[in-house]
Amino acid sequence: MIKEERFHDLCGEVSTCIACERMCDSSKVLGPSSGKVTSDLMFIGEAPGRLGADNTTIPFHGDKSGHNFEELLEFASLSRSQIFVTNAVLCNPRNSQGNNATPNKQEIENCSEYLKRQIDLINPKIVVTLGATALKALSLIEPHKLTLKKSVRTQKNWYGRILIPIYHPGQRAMLHRSFANQRSDYKFVFDAMRSLGMKRVKVYGEVSFKIADLLEYIFWKHQNISYFGLHKLVYLVEYEIYKKYGVLYTGAYFIRQKDGPYCTNLHIQKIKNTFKNLKTSTNKGKLYVENRDANNLFSETPKLAKSPEKIDREASLIIDKLLESSDKDLKKKAYLSKPMRTILRKEQRENINSYNAPILFDIQEADSQLNNGIS
Ligand code: URA
Repeated sequence: MIKEERFHDLCGEVSTCIACERMCDSSKVLGPSSGKVTSDLMFIGEAPGRLGADNTTIPFHGDKSGHNFEELLEFASLSRSQIFVTNAVLCNPRNSQGNNATPNKQEIENCSEYLKRQIDLINPKIVVTLGATALKALSLIEPHKLTLKKSVRTQKNWYGRILIPIYHPGQRAMLHRSFANQRSDYKFVFDAMRSLGMKRVKVYGEVSFKIADLLEYIFWKHQNISYFGLHKLVYLVEYEIYKKYGVLYTGAYFIRQKDGPYCTNLHIQKIKNTFKNLKTSTNKGKLYVENRDANNLFSETPKLAKSPEKIDREASLIIDKLLESSDKDLKKKAYLSKPMRTILRKEQRENINSYNAPILFDIQEADSQLNNGIS
């Protein structure tokens, strides 16, 4: 059986697991949005967070830890579309007050077989543990005596592959490892990956996502845009540029959600954290993002509008054109794009939905993944 099918079956098994009493009703965070099943690079966290993965079903997405993790990946030019992300425990443990708790020994043991099966199946060349819990969880699969403090940012041989222990990206761990130091940890992972000759996605501009530049330009032109429209707009910029230049302009991670493409780098909290003058409002049940402070940041000509680079000019022209479109038209345009059509065709053919599946711009890879049973 091919890898994608085995992964699909594993997710099915996990979805019915009731091994841990306090987590029976939690989301089981393992599925298409965990990332690339053929990846050579696997990140393992502790457990889904209450406000993050438990809610979004995307590992490390939607809470502060997720925000930090995504920022660190971005800093090291690592794209979610090229990696696989999971947790030592696949459900969200909470204490009696309903807050996030650390998984206990028994819970880690209960999930250990699933973790082993993920590692065996994905078979990554590099495993990166995020925090002490993940590192300890690995010793149940193949014993090791590593401690985070002593082995942080080093390469160890473990279970026939390279293990790189680093700190958890949550706020608590920042007390022990500064954000600057964590950035270097992710660069170390990137270098390790490169030294093994591992292929990675070609991202224009290499280091930083262009999402912030795009937002700056969009809100310079427009005071107010629906959150729905924003996701489609950024997706269409990425798609049009990929079509023309064959590079990923933002390098962001897009997944297929119920109402079309969703960009994980555009999580609402991420937007607010980056631009303090952007606020949200709701109108008839629809979420809008608006610039309430036109005299501040967005009154200056944004980087994108000043850039001499052809590709940036192209991005701004695409936005200019699309900003005139209604949400309905943006959705239609997104659905008519090749990567989305590939997914929709498969859904129709097999009468399934592919919610949370990555949207791959490399059509060849998308075709092979979809034909091989990822749903
Ligand atoms: N979100 C996750 O998916 N894992 C963590 O360890 C923390 C937040």
